[in-house]
Amino acid sequence: MSFDHLKPEITTILHNNEATLNERLYALCNFLRESIPHYDWVGYYFRNGDKEELKLGPYVGAPTEHTIIPFGKGICGQVAVSNENFVVPDVTAQDNYIACSIHVKAEIVIPLFVNGENIGQIDIDSATPDPFTKADEALLEFVNEKVAGLMA
Ligand code: SME
Repeated sequence: MSFDHLKPEITTILHNNEATLNERLYALCNFLRESIPHYDWVGYYFRNGDKEELKLGPYVGAPTEHTIIPFGKGICGQVAVSNENFVVPDVTAQDNYIACSIHVKAEIVIPLFVNGENIGQIDIDSATPDPFTKADEALLEFVNEKVAGLMA
Protein backbone atom coordinates (compact mmCIF):
# COMPACT_ATOMS: atom_id res chain seq x y z
CA MET A 1 0.00 0.00 0.00
CA SER A 2 1.16 3.53 -0.72
CA PHE A 3 -0.14 6.95 0.23
CA ASP A 4 1.37 8.65 -2.82
CA HIS A 5 -2.10 9.73 -3.96
CA LEU A 6 -2.25 12.11 -0.97
CA LYS A 7 0.92 13.98 -1.90
CA PRO A 8 -0.56 16.56 -4.34
CA GLU A 9 -3.11 17.78 -1.77
CA ILE A 10 -0.44 17.89 0.94
CA THR A 11 1.70 20.06 -1.32
CA THR A 12 -1.26 22.34 -2.06
CA ILE A 13 -2.04 22.76 1.66
CA LEU A 14 1.56 23.57 2.55
CA HIS A 15 2.01 26.02 -0.33
CA ASN A 16 -1.05 28.09 0.59
CA ASN A 17 0.51 31.51 0.89
CA GLU A 18 -2.72 32.97 2.25
CA ALA A 19 -2.27 31.02 5.51
CA THR A 20 0.26 31.27 8.34
CA LEU A 21 2.61 28.36 9.01
CA ASN A 22 0.52 27.23 12.00
CA GLU A 23 -2.67 27.41 9.92
CA ARG A 24 -1.05 25.28 7.22
CA LEU A 25 0.18 22.74 9.77
CA TYR A 26 -3.29 22.55 11.30
CA ALA A 27 -4.84 22.02 7.84
CA LEU A 28 -2.22 19.36 7.12
CA CYS A 29 -2.94 17.49 10.37
CA ASN A 30 -6.65 17.66 9.63
CA PHE A 31 -6.19 16.38 6.07
CA LEU A 32 -4.07 13.44 7.24
CA ARG A 33 -6.57 12.49 9.93
CA GLU A 34 -9.52 12.74 7.52
CA SER A 35 -7.72 10.76 4.79
CA ILE A 36 -6.22 7.86 6.72
CA PRO A 37 -8.63 5.86 8.89
CA HIS A 38 -6.01 4.67 11.38
CA TYR A 39 -4.88 8.26 12.18
CA ASP A 40 -6.90 9.34 15.24
CA TRP A 41 -4.70 12.08 16.70
CA VAL A 42 -2.25 13.99 14.50
CA GLY A 43 -0.07 16.80 15.78
CA TYR A 44 3.24 18.60 15.80
CA TYR A 45 5.60 19.10 18.71
CA PHE A 46 8.46 21.61 18.43
CA ARG A 47 11.56 22.23 20.49
CA ASN A 48 10.66 24.95 23.01
CA GLY A 49 13.29 27.61 22.36
CA ASP A 50 16.61 26.59 23.87
CA LYS A 51 14.97 24.36 26.48
CA GLU A 52 15.42 20.59 26.53
CA GLU A 53 11.70 20.09 26.04
CA LEU A 54 9.02 19.84 23.36
CA LYS A 55 6.01 22.12 23.13
CA LEU A 56 2.74 21.13 21.49
CA GLY A 57 1.96 22.91 18.22
CA PRO A 58 -0.99 22.49 15.85
CA TYR A 59 -2.93 19.24 16.29
CA VAL A 60 -6.26 17.56 15.62
CA GLY A 61 -7.92 14.96 17.82
CA ALA A 62 -8.73 14.76 21.50
CA PRO A 63 -7.21 17.57 23.61
CA THR A 64 -4.11 16.44 25.51
CA GLU A 65 -2.69 17.72 28.78
CA HIS A 66 0.81 16.87 27.52
CA THR A 67 1.58 20.27 26.03
CA ILE A 68 5.18 20.19 27.32
CA ILE A 69 7.28 16.99 27.12
CA PRO A 70 10.85 16.92 28.49
CA PHE A 71 13.53 15.49 26.18
CA GLY A 72 13.89 11.76 26.84
CA LYS A 73 10.37 11.30 28.23
CA GLY A 74 7.78 9.27 26.35
CA ILE A 75 7.95 8.32 22.70
CA CYS A 76 8.12 11.97 21.65
CA GLY A 77 10.88 12.89 24.08
CA GLN A 78 12.92 9.88 22.98
CA VAL A 79 12.70 10.94 19.32
CA ALA A 80 13.88 14.43 20.30
CA VAL A 81 17.20 12.86 21.33
CA SER A 82 17.47 9.81 19.03
CA ASN A 83 16.77 11.66 15.74
CA GLU A 84 15.16 8.41 14.52
CA ASN A 85 11.67 7.45 13.46
CA PHE A 86 9.87 5.62 16.28
CA VAL A 87 7.09 3.19 15.34
CA VAL A 88 5.21 1.69 18.30
CA PRO A 89 2.86 -1.14 17.26
CA ASP A 90 1.63 -1.67 20.85
CA VAL A 91 1.93 1.17 23.35
CA THR A 92 1.36 -1.19 26.31
CA ALA A 93 4.71 -2.84 25.52
CA GLN A 94 6.59 0.47 26.08
CA ASP A 95 8.00 1.37 29.50
CA ASN A 96 8.85 4.96 28.55
CA TYR A 97 5.47 6.02 27.23
CA ILE A 98 3.18 8.95 28.09
CA ALA A 99 -0.46 7.92 27.78
CA CYS A 100 -2.76 10.57 26.33
CA SER A 101 -5.91 8.48 26.11
CA ILE A 102 -6.97 4.97 27.03
CA HIS A 103 -8.10 4.49 23.43
CA VAL A 104 -4.60 4.76 21.96
CA LYS A 105 -3.17 1.41 20.85
CA ALA A 106 -0.25 2.47 18.65
CA GLU A 107 1.87 5.52 17.87
CA ILE A 108 4.32 6.78 15.25
CA VAL A 109 6.68 9.73 15.62
CA ILE A 110 8.82 11.09 12.76
CA PRO A 111 11.44 13.77 13.47
CA LEU A 112 11.48 17.07 11.58
CA PHE A 113 14.89 18.28 10.45
CA VAL A 114 15.56 21.87 9.38
CA ASN A 115 19.09 22.47 8.10
CA GLY A 116 20.09 19.12 9.60
CA GLU A 117 18.80 19.99 13.09
CA ASN A 118 16.01 18.04 14.82
CA ILE A 119 13.58 20.87 15.63
CA GLY A 120 10.38 18.94 16.19
CA GLN A 121 8.28 16.03 15.07
CA ILE A 122 4.95 14.83 13.77
CA ASP A 123 3.17 12.51 16.22
CA ILE A 124 0.27 10.22 15.33
CA ASP A 125 -1.80 8.12 17.71
CA SER A 126 -3.99 5.27 16.51
CA ALA A 127 -6.87 3.40 18.12
CA THR A 128 -6.07 0.51 15.77
CA PRO A 129 -3.51 -2.05 17.02
CA ASP A 130 -0.30 -2.34 14.96
CA PRO A 131 -1.52 -0.23 11.99
CA PHE A 132 1.69 1.46 10.79
CA THR A 133 3.82 0.23 7.88
CA LYS A 134 6.74 1.53 5.84
CA ALA A 135 4.12 3.40 3.78
CA ASP A 136 3.26 5.56 6.80
CA GLU A 137 6.93 6.28 7.45
CA ALA A 138 7.48 7.19 3.78
CA LEU A 139 4.46 9.50 3.72
CA LEU A 140 5.36 11.25 6.97
CA GLU A 141 9.00 11.68 5.92
CA PHE A 142 7.71 13.31 2.72
CA VAL A 143 5.40 15.54 4.78
CA ASN A 144 8.20 16.63 7.11
CA GLU A 145 10.57 17.37 4.23
CA LYS A 146 7.89 19.67 2.79
CA VAL A 147 7.31 21.33 6.18
CA ALA A 148 11.06 21.77 6.64
CA GLY A 149 11.16 23.58 3.31
CA LEU A 150 8.81 26.20 4.76
CA MET A 151 10.94 26.68 7.89
CA ALA A 152 14.47 26.68 6.44
N1 SME B 1 2.26 9.36 23.69
C1 SME B 1 3.24 10.43 23.55
C2 SME B 1 2.76 11.69 24.22
C3 SME B 1 2.06 12.62 23.32
S1 SME B 1 0.46 12.17 22.99
O1 SME B 1 0.49 10.90 22.22
C4 SME B 1 -0.34 13.31 22.13
C5 SME B 1 4.56 9.99 24.12
O2 SME B 1 4.68 8.92 24.71
O3 SME B 1 5.52 10.75 23.97
